[in-house]
Amino acid sequence: MRAGRPLIAIACLALAACSRAKAPPPPAGAPSPAEPGYEVRLGHDVFVHYCATCHGDAGAGDGFNAYNLDPRPRDLSDPAFQKKKTDAELADTVRRGGAGVGLSNLMPPWGKTLSERQVDEVVLYMRGLRKSAP
Ligand code: HEC
Repeated sequence: MRAGRPLIAIACLALAACSRAKAPPPPAGAPSPAEPGYEVRLGHDVFVHYCATCHGDAGAGDGFNAYNLDPRPRDLSDPAFQKKKTDAELADTVRRGGAGVGLSNLMPPWGKTLSERQVDEVVLYMRGLRKSAP
């Protein structure tokens, strides 16, 4: 099996070269991992991009498309709602959509669009929407 060795050596070299190649720089204005609240900011970006049309920027259920929805999306910042749902339940609803968890199918499933990480980030962002109890 001597003949195989040079090939393995070449494969290793190629791998090493690839893993050393630098990732492209993040686009200007993108959040940096060093910043506090980095993941929440990423979650905010996901939310604004995919969710705000229906849920509104602050999750109040007043996105411009909300008025076409019946039932309308609830106020995600409502402390009573926030308390009732675990992170896992929120993530599950985001992944599987309304139809997947017994809610309206007007809430689309995002499990194929968003990565697991983005789902976690957007859940973190929704948690931050919680209004402080009066
Ligand atoms: C096309 C409109 C639309 C978009 C876009 C949308 N949603 Fe929704 N969402 C809804 C509607 C309508 C409901 C309410 C479903 C119900 O009460 O039966 C809902 C419900 C939810 C709920 C569950 C609330 C509860 O009562 O448990 C969560 C969490 C949620 N959406 C998160 C998101 C996130 C995160 C995104 C973006 C990744 C998103 N939604 C994008 C329409 C939308």
